[in-house]
Amino acid sequence: MDRIRIVGGQRLHGTIRISGAKNAALPLMIASLLTKDTLTLHGVPRLADVTLLSRILGNHGVDITIAGKRAGQSTSDGQTFKLTAAEIVDTTAPYEMVARMRASFWVLAPLLARCGEARVSLPGGCAIGTRPVDLHLTALEALGASIELDGGYVIAKAPKGLIGGRVHLAKVSVGATHNALMAAVLALGDTVIENAAREPEVADLAACLVEMGAKIEGIGTSTLHIEGVPSLHAAEHAVLPDRIETGTYAMAAAITGGDVFLEGARADLLQEALDILRTSGVEVEETNFGIRVARNGHGLGPVSVETQPFPGFPTDLQAQLIALMCTASGVSEVRETIFENRFMHVQELARLGARIDLKGDTALVTGVNGLRGAQVMATDLRASVSLIIAGLAAQGETTIGRVYHLDRGFERIEEKLRHCGAHIERLSG
Ligand code: EPU
Repeated sequence: MDRIRIVGGQRLHGTIRISGAKNAALPLMIASLLTKDTLTLHGVPRLADVTLLSRILGNHGVDITIAGKRAGQSTSDGQTFKLTAAEIVDTTAPYEMVARMRASFWVLAPLLARCGEARVSLPGGCAIGTRPVDLHLTALEALGASIELDGGYVIAKAPKGLIGGRVHLAKVSVGATHNALMAAVLALGDTVIENAAREPEVADLAACLVEMGAKIEGIGTSTLHIEGVPSLHAAEHAVLPDRIETGTYAMAAAITGGDVFLEGARADLLQEALDILRTSGVEVEETNFGIRVARNGHGLGPVSVETQPFPGFPTDLQAQLIALMCTASGVSEVRETIFENRFMHVQELARLGARIDLKGDTALVTGVNGLRGAQVMATDLRASVSLIIAGLAAQGETTIGRVYHLDRGFERIEEKLRHCGAHIERLSG
């Protein structure tokens, strides 16, 4: 199993190109199931989750070609995917696949909308919490689907097609909004989705669906109005930049006291996180081409933060912020309100000398004078990158095990950090 080795203490300086967002690319790829025509996606990141989803979609009959590099392009430009679901050959998403990636559960709605039936394994729990799917199922029922659970599978049927209706999501859920949206676009009549997630990745999916011929109003708000259409058609769409990758590198630059330009990053996608960094004493400059993050000689102050659905502070940046606050002067309070078990990085950060007390859903982080390198273990995607952030600032050597978690969501992370002066390498085997 690969490990990552970091020798900390180098200030990051330079430019990091921000990739297409994993959490936008996945639902966009899934949306290809909704039409027999070709969906072309630009800026798809090179990630393990993208590869796995390609295999899952291939099982359903989606033909995927990855366009070659165009003149002047480099490997940092993201890939162009052409996805064609001319015919759906299988409406079952098996346990072996859905268990490995939760987002693959979202094939449920498009398979149901297009074929009138779908059999999709329950995704089950995962490292960060129980993560139920009740909201997904009630949303589809509101659009006329019959739902049965059998042998760990959700069996959804709508033989005469889905019918528009009122979907009220009792809790804000990104995935349930994706599923409800993909079901509603092909339903007969009008649908209203209330309390929809406002995450930029939901807006990106909605924008792509509109390019495919869907009729959606209220994009970016918590009430989506959809007028169903009989079919969707070919479209071309560029995946939006990854706000979590942006925030992660911003915190990496900040912890090392560096100065980094995050090329292609969009400040409007993570305003709250950038404001928190400013509160802590980090210089953040927003431009039309990206975001510059610098901490030239200033100390870091503590912050008090609570994770919230967009536009609040994202849960996917909570672990990284805790890593950063490990070196701030004073006590920071970080409350996790989205997932009940998303503090597994805390005990690993403690190996590097961090002082963090967990009190229920809140981490109290007391800044220390310096972190020291150690052997640590990645437990999930965002937790593993928090260990990299801490390792970059720690004195001496840090090795991180189980880095396959990292490869699910960060494109060429060692290369990007090394390019800015970090001493980081991957050790194979
Ligand atoms: N929830 C329910 N019932 C449901 C669905 C969700 O109670 O039917 C709860 C969840 O347990 C959680 C809350 O609602 O407490 C929010 O979960 P949500 O459905 O929004 O999460 P998700 O769609 O499964 C996506 C991202 C996550 C990100 C969350 C929250 C993707 C592929 N995943 O998950 O990203 O943390 O939204 O923003 O888009 C990651 O990238 O590392 C990651 C975990």
